[in-house]
Amino acid sequence: MRVFGIESSCDETAAAVVEDGRLVRSDVVASQHEVHARYGGVVPELASRAHILNVVPVVQAALERASVTLDDIDGIAVTNAPGLVGALLVGLQTAKSLAWVTGKPLVGVHHLEGHLTAIYLEPDPPPMPHLALIVSGGHTSLVRVNDHGAVIELGATRDDAAGEAFDKGAKLLGLGYPGGAVIDKLAATGDPHAVAFPKSMTAGEHGADFSFSGLKTALLHHVRAHRVPDGQPLADLCASYQAAIVEVLVRKTRRAARKHGLEHVQVCGGVAANQGLRAALRAAGAEDGFRVYIPPPARCTD
Ligand code: KG4
Ligand code: ZN
Repeated sequence: MRVFGIESSCDETAAAVVEDGRLVRSDVVASQHEVHARYGGVVPELASRAHILNVVPVVQAALERASVTLDDIDGIAVTNAPGLVGALLVGLQTAKSLAWVTGKPLVGVHHLEGHLTAIYLEPDPPPMPHLALIVSGGHTSLVRVNDHGAVIELGATRDDAAGEAFDKGAKLLGLGYPGGAVIDKLAATGDPHAVAFPKSMTAGEHGADFSFSGLKTALLHHVRAHRVPDGQPLADLCASYQAAIVEVLVRKTRRAARKHGLEHVQVCGGVAANQGLRAALRAAGAEDGFRVYIPPPARCTD
């Protein structure tokens, strides 16, 4: 079965042709990073307008690269929620139009379900049931995945998402948008112990819930007191900030895996591309005896 997929939930317009749920025949992504960079974050109206400009060329490129036409497609899938409403609408209307003119079935896909399924494009995906840490720009949650479409939430952020903490931190440090990848790169050469940042809600009574807004405020106070450094001290600050996010995510994941007796853990969403998080979770898995599954960085983001 050949499925044509469209995704436009935030700041990337994407289309792909996937065969039998496993083989990616084409995967085209038009990024809008340049559109939003100067604002230090995604501007929803600009995102919608850029999607309108990008969607038809992206759809055409995805079909061409897969060497197929719409006649060769068995069904159309599209991200339908959650995301920026105006941005989602562009992909949805495009998908609906294609389904209407071709008479092919249309399936709406939950954004987080999309993140959870990316790992199934890999040769050795996790068995069911497993634990999943979903970490993106808009969401941070720990879920028990009993089967495809049968997901139970164990905990979620009460305020900012982990990706939001990266993006807002990067904005504060003048590092541009999107901030996660920039902090990740700088953190690689920094000292994670240079600055002590709070690790919120790690006490047992908070269960699998998260909070990242205090960390952002702590960075603001640090920068007000010491200004934004450059060179090695900037790398140290990024490494310390990233380490606080990573430590909270890893501690909560370990505890949930233990509590629910789950030996397979997947990590997905944009923040799963973070090198520090990938390494720390793999180390935790080796110590505690759970197996860690993370898509390659390009398949962590939307
Ligand atoms: O899943 P995604 O592409 O979009 C949403 O659903 O939000 O995730 C985007 C988020 C952004 O906050 C971005 O800064 C973060 O993922 N991100 C990273 C890295 N790459 C992307 N965060 C940390 N380290 C990275 N390497
Ligand atoms: Zn996402």
